[in-house]
Amino acid sequence: MVSHTSASWLLLLLSPFASPALARNVSPRDAVPAKYHAAPYYPAPHGGWIGSWKEAYEKAHALVSQMTLAEKTNITSGVGMYMGTPCVGNSGSVDRLGFPQLCLQDSALGVASADNVTAFPAGITTGATWDKALMYARGVALGKEFRGKGANVHLGPTVGPIGRKPLGGRNWEGFGADPVLQAKAAALHIKGVQEQGVIATIKHLIGNEQEMFRMYNPLQPGYSANIDDRTLHELYLWPFAEAVHAGVGAVMTAYNAVNGSACSQHSTLINGLLKDELGFQGMVMSDWLSQISGVDSALAGLDLNMPGDTNIPLFGYSLWQYELTRSVLNGSVPLDRLNDMATRVVATWYKFNQDKDFPRPNFSSNTRARDGLLHPAAVLSPSGQVNWFVNVQNDHNVVARQVAQDAITLLKNDGSFLPLSNTQKISVFGTDAQVNPSGPNACANRACNRGTLGMGWGSGVADYPYFDDPISALKRRVGDVKFYNTDTFPGDVGKPAADEVAIVFISSDAGENTLTVENNHGDRDSDKLAAWHGGDKLVQKAAEKFSNVVVVVHTVGPLNLEPWIDLPSVKSVLFAHLPGQEAGESLTNILFGDASPCGHLPYSITKSASDYPASIANLKTFTFGQVQDTYSEGLYIDYRSLHKTSTSPRYAFGHGLSYTTFSFTNATLRPITPLTFSPPPRAPKSPTPSYSSTIPPASEAYYPPNFPKIWRYLYSWLPTTEADAAYAIGKAGTKTYPYPDGYATEQRPGPAAGGGEGGNPALWDVAWEVSVTVNNVGSKFAGKASAQVYLQHPAGNGYDNPVVQLRDFEKTRVLKPGESQVVTMRLTRRDVSVWDVVRQEWVAPGVGEGKDGYTVWIGEASDRLGVACYTGSGRCEGGLKGPV
Ligand code: NOJ
Repeated sequence: MVSHTSASWLLLLLSPFASPALARNVSPRDAVPAKYHAAPYYPAPHGGWIGSWKEAYEKAHALVSQMTLAEKTNITSGVGMYMGTPCVGNSGSVDRLGFPQLCLQDSALGVASADNVTAFPAGITTGATWDKALMYARGVALGKEFRGKGANVHLGPTVGPIGRKPLGGRNWEGFGADPVLQAKAAALHIKGVQEQGVIATIKHLIGNEQEMFRMYNPLQPGYSANIDDRTLHELYLWPFAEAVHAGVGAVMTAYNAVNGSACSQHSTLINGLLKDELGFQGMVMSDWLSQISGVDSALAGLDLNMPGDTNIPLFGYSLWQYELTRSVLNGSVPLDRLNDMATRVVATWYKFNQDKDFPRPNFSSNTRARDGLLHPAAVLSPSGQVNWFVNVQNDHNVVARQVAQDAITLLKNDGSFLPLSNTQKISVFGTDAQVNPSGPNACANRACNRGTLGMGWGSGVADYPYFDDPISALKRRVGDVKFYNTDTFPGDVGKPAADEVAIVFISSDAGENTLTVENNHGDRDSDKLAAWHGGDKLVQKAAEKFSNVVVVVHTVGPLNLEPWIDLPSVKSVLFAHLPGQEAGESLTNILFGDASPCGHLPYSITKSASDYPASIANLKTFTFGQVQDTYSEGLYIDYRSLHKTSTSPRYAFGHGLSYTTFSFTNATLRPITPLTFSPPPRAPKSPTPSYSSTIPPASEAYYPPNFPKIWRYLYSWLPTTEADAAYAIGKAGTKTYPYPDGYATEQRPGPAAGGGEGGNPALWDVAWEVSVTVNNVGSKFAGKASAQVYLQHPAGNGYDNPVVQLRDFEKTRVLKPGESQVVTMRLTRRDVSVWDVVRQEWVAPGVGEGKDGYTVWIGEASDRLGVACYTGSGRCEGGLKGPV
């Protein structure tokens, strides 16, 4: 959030816009380029037709059947910003029936704004481990901490942005610039969290690839991410599909528009793709303050408005709550839609057994004191105990440290310079080596880059319980460390001994657009791909003076390393990404060789920003009206784009060195499920809960007599006269709402590509299994290897495909010299398919009579693929140069 002073001024200025009557101020839509459509898709598909959710829906049906109109509308919206129980979002409750307020809490890397929690490494760091076991273990620990704090809904993981734009502000919250890396990491994160009975939220649907201009405000619509159907399916929606397949309970829509229509009221995205094609059975929430219409968003499939307010908060206005009650009474929102919304919310709660012993929130996002206001935004609020200081950390520092350590990516190691010895004389340069001297949490929402960078800024953060900084860890290890806590190379550095090592710490930060740091507006629009605080110069100067320089980089994403990467004294470069609280020992364990580095890049590092097409290299800047961000590069982001133009990166996607070396031998390919070109037809939907569709009596909306209202709290009741008037309109049926084009009320059978959670269940059939023996062929060091599988489509198959695409990956255990391990990876039907926009179906171009099959490449990085298997012949061979 912006600081309170500036926020209040802004709110005063904008207050006339806060009223619901003016909330549709952004219509009509701005024009988007031809070929980018937001076709209408109605009605919102009912939830409850998938077997694994049957029981939850039966229970939800029984509970919702007992609810009054105002009770149903109360649970589909927040009660207002800073109003409810002290989470970042708090839904309304139905105390009469035992349905509680749901506590929705950030972030994807830890319980935000809370004490006694673990500040885990960020998503991008987790992605850099390429380790499924760690992705899952981090999810388990996160889930336990959210549960321990009483948060029903975890607002993570983040897979949108995917990292299309290297300068995008929130790429670090996700796992890397590839749909499969994002998808598999997210699915394991969700599994870990939800096994603890906490509802995970996959976000942001979709196209939130830059921060600037993302939000609708009364003066300007959010930008439109213009994405074609195939690109949407194969790239941006892919991780969401996998999350739905993993059973994710909640989805958050993005702030921006897609193809001209705001995501929070986008019927194609929510009704069509998410709920019908992907078969999503949980609840869809808006991102905070992004709801811009009441009726239209309900019809488009939104189920939960967060935090309840209009997009100008804190005035006590909502587009739902009492307005949704009114809309159902006057007939503009069909009761059928409200029943489905409420059923989805309650079913999700039952699905994760939150009706049994789920703790109430025991912390406050608003204050660290024991006592505080119960409804801070009400000003005249009762107060009471809001913090119980429950410690949920357990031994989660262990998994946090392991993730931080296994993510560390060794990009360069000339002459096997690393690891260092404990007797090494070391000089350390850079403020990034030491924790922020004012304390690790000194800047709210981590909105500053002072001291070691452990996470980016914005809502995607957590407070550090402590910070193990690199300089302390180095001093614990070696006696002889000189620390220059400066980003300008000091003049008083004497002549180093010939074997003395300079370790230079540099960083690059980014975050959410609500806060600006050193002129970077969320996105890295000011510093771009350069190290912050003159870090590149610091490295150059150190390299002039010292003949052995090790560069440690804490960064949200790729940097331009060209100013110094080829300097002969820059011997080694480690990307430690965003390590969270465990920055120190995780790093020294690698620097001194207790473990070999085993992280791999979750994005490519190019030699120049212009190595990418302009559409992805550049952030969009201000224009009048809606900023148009057209994804003209289609499928070609990151390594796909570089391969297409035969551009060599400085370091390729997936690159990461070890202190040892590995060989990949004896690959085998095993067909599992025989494929046909198109998948078998889906099964029809099972019946969903049914309710009476008669508009309920107005009395179900009346305020209870003598109800003690809290000023500006959002309620779902209406004054009696207003409820009666709305009911009269509904009963007469004379007033018609201007429904969007294509509006319909008859439930659809669902598209051919649907049929289960994540789409047609046949898409998830394993088509081939590929195994390879990974050998540690070094003589000195043990280490873990990353095995990566990339798919190459047969040439000339009628579809334009990237040269290769990541499809699966595995990490070995620690292999001692001479040891080996067989790793097995899988290709599903979906993995070998393309989205055919005409057929509106996934098809597998490499199967069928007379077709050339696929080539399955295996190796340690996208540019080190020396082994190939051919699905046509079933043969595998090694010693190859690789496809790029
Ligand atoms: C806005 C962010 O975009 C979203 O990721 C977050 O969960 C909500 N705010 C709540 O803080």
